[in-house]
Amino acid sequence: MEIIKTVSEVRDIVKKWRKAGHSIGLVPTMGYLHAGHGSLVEQSVKNNDKTVVSVFVNPAQFGPNEDLEKYPRDIKRDSELVASLGGDIIFKPEPEEMYKKSNATTVKVEGLSQKLCGITRPVHFAGVCQVVSKLFNIVTPDNAYFGLKDFQQYVIINKMVEDLNFPVKINPCAIVRDKNGLALSSRNVYLTDEETKSALSLNQSLQYAKSLISSGEKKAFFIIDEITKIINNVPYSKIDYVKIVDIDTLDDIDIVEKKYAVLLAVYIGKTRLIDNFTELS
Ligand code: PAF
Repeated sequence: MEIIKTVSEVRDIVKKWRKAGHSIGLVPTMGYLHAGHGSLVEQSVKNNDKTVVSVFVNPAQFGPNEDLEKYPRDIKRDSELVASLGGDIIFKPEPEEMYKKSNATTVKVEGLSQKLCGITRPVHFAGVCQVVSKLFNIVTPDNAYFGLKDFQQYVIINKMVEDLNFPVKINPCAIVRDKNGLALSSRNVYLTDEETKSALSLNQSLQYAKSLISSGEKKAFFIIDEITKIINNVPYSKIDYVKIVDIDTLDDIDIVEKKYAVLLAVYIGKTRLIDNFTELS
């Protein structure tokens, strides 16, 4: 398993694979891989002849006061994991390889990008769309794999692919949780032991919401209120949002019946975590 650093080398490898008739899966990541990423790689390896994992901490998707510098990195561990799962190459470009100083092009999915996480992270999704569209153009995958923990990202990427006619299938992959129910995230490493205990309230509140909905509760405001109470009850928590939305438009819904997603973003200490459940979960 090789680590490739330049766009031209990836293009050469892809050209050879295409000539040999191979299908290609892409797993875009920012590295510091965990079992959630592992499940994306496994699905790609299972369903494609070749799998490319990109590892790139994308500066364009971080706001000025966010954790770009501090974002955890461990390429040795990442490459061991990708190799053990049967991935073929890691594409790990430097920022200068991905973004020329003269870059003047942005990719923005209007509307969807300004809701939910887009309110506290106004540049985030344009940065995601920019790097993902570049990766699609560089790797030309048949399939790309995205985790459903980043549900808004998944919806936005789908819209971008539809609007810009990218010839790639977007495959959603289930959220992977630790044994206590905490959704895996590279940012969990920032949490202290005490904060980790508080972070469990995210999934606990979602599980309670799920049970309310299964027992017939349909009023979104009531379910949101119950989630809010559970999270506000633990130390270090500060809710950014708790929302129940339509899965296509990401607009709030009042009655929880079908096509819904229950989404939340919560600061635990200084760490912002997201979690959700949807019809797709
Ligand atoms: O989900 C992520 O890790 C990132 O947003 C992505 C898709 C790799 C783009 O940098």
